[in-house]
Amino acid sequence: MSDAILVTEDVNKTFGAVTAAREVSVEVPKGAIWSLIGSNGAGKTTFVNMVTGYIKPDRGRILFQGRDITRLSPRQITRLGIRRSFQMPQLYAELTVLQNMLVSRSINAERPPSIWRGAQGADDVERAMDILKRFKIADYSDRLMGELSAGVRKLLDIAMAISGTPRVVMLDEPTSGVAAEEKFPIMDLVMEALSASDVTILFVEHDMDIVTRYSERVLAFYDGAIVANDAPDEVLADEVVQRYVTGTAK
Ligand SMILES: Nc1ncnc2c1ncn2[C@@H]1O[C@H](COP(=O)(O)OP(=O)(O)OP(=O)(O)O)[C@@H](O)[C@H]1O
Ligand SMILES: [Mg+2]
Repeated sequence: MSDAILVTEDVNKTFGAVTAAREVSVEVPKGAIWSLIGSNGAGKTTFVNMVTGYIKPDRGRILFQGRDITRLSPRQITRLGIRRSFQMPQLYAELTVLQNMLVSRSINAERPPSIWRGAQGADDVERAMDILKRFKIADYSDRLMGELSAGVRKLLDIAMAISGTPRVVMLDEPTSGVAAEEKFPIMDLVMEALSASDVTILFVEHDMDIVTRYSERVLAFYDGAIVANDAPDEVLADEVVQRYVTGTAK
């Protein structure tokens, strides 16, 4: 498919006796907003880990803009423009919010920002602050990461993932561990922050209200395989999905 930005071809991954990815083949069009659903252990994070280079598949290929990225390192993949956030935010507890942002931006940048080259880095700070403002966490910029609530940590991890010019953003459970009333506001902030660019978004989510509201298409995982790949209404009405994923079968 010519407009696919991300393609996986028969990707397989086993961990001992567990098959975490089973002939996973998808073609994600540029600009798509898709969600990944599935019960615990279904293979959602494994999929994200393989696309972002953290885990290498045993078989199969992953293509980004037609280029084979299967064997590239996470850092190489990040620099190509595939960004991610983590199910458990990966942050430096002993650094402030702003410092976390600056470190992340310098690691993700194609060229290290000036702060790493010994200069003052005022531009870098300004740009990092702009992103924190967009996520409404600028007030916390001088606070140590370790002191902050799960919601703020989650937002910072997502802000770090999408700073710069991502082409594909993969969010692993962006709303897990935050209070129910914070879920929609978090998703609204993420979607708003990404709306200006033509970025492709894949997010892992257990909350079907969020899946229905924010994604155009849903990939349902079960036992390492994709068992449904369709519009949210179709997927949620699917018998296999109701039995093995959402537990809503009658
Ligand atoms: N690094 C690893 N080493 C060993 N087993 C792993 C590893 N990563 C994942 N697995 C196993 O692979 C299977 C799929 O795990 P994965 O983390 O992808 O599930 P998930 O769909 O993200 O689940 P959850 O909703 O709980 O996050 C599970 O059985 C898990 O225990
Ligand atoms: Mg997971």
